[in-house]
Amino acid sequence: MKIGIITPMEEEKRDLLAALDSISSDQIGGQDFSQGTMFGKDVILTESGIGKAQAAMATGVLLDRYQPDIVVNTGSAGGLASGLHIGDQVIAQRLAYHDVYNTKFAGSVGFVPGKPLYYESDAKLVADFQEANPEAKTGLVVSGDSFVMGNMKTQIVTNFPDAMAVEMEGASVAQIAYDFGVPFIVLRAISDSADDGAQESFDQFLLEAGRKSAKLLLNFIQGL
Ligand code: ADE
Repeated sequence: MKIGIITPMEEEKRDLLAALDSISSDQIGGQDFSQGTMFGKDVILTESGIGKAQAAMATGVLLDRYQPDIVVNTGSAGGLASGLHIGDQVIAQRLAYHDVYNTKFAGSVGFVPGKPLYYESDAKLVADFQEANPEAKTGLVVSGDSFVMGNMKTQIVTNFPDAMAVEMEGASVAQIAYDFGVPFIVLRAISDSADDGAQESFDQFLLEAGRKSAKLLLNFIQGL
């Protein structure tokens, strides 16, 4: 099995890169693709950059050029659900865009014409990741092109009351993997609460959250 991994930021990639015995590296569209093995499994690791367009580009290139069997997106997120704490790990069972308003075409915020409202992570992968990481929480993760802080959170929680966490790439990775027909999963760990203190909390806990999310993946790959 060949595993394609996308992380938005260097801090979120660090532990994964350290675990990768890299045999080659390519620069495509300003993104770095490192190929090698992790615990003896074939892996391609790329840092997409932040936001939906960066994530979509990385996922398209990854799938077309390197043809992984699965795609995993890992990184930090802002917590939306009550009871979530800094460092908590979240496995996205499904994903949606929180910043798409095409209500001309359909009633639901997040709807992109011709696409599903929700992208489902592969059910078998979700079960396998849960087994490898029983403490991780599972649920809806929403994505958009803004760092969510202050009162921005209210609108998102109103539109997606069951959303556990918010980030800026997962639904884009999901959309492109869905279009290619390749199983995917999105993993996150909480760096902030997407509220008034979000900026300071993100700066303080980005690395820790990136590591916690990467740990979900490292545990899974080690167990393969
Ligand atoms: N990633 C981590 N924290 C986030 C936030 N508050 N908003 C968007 N993406 C994030």
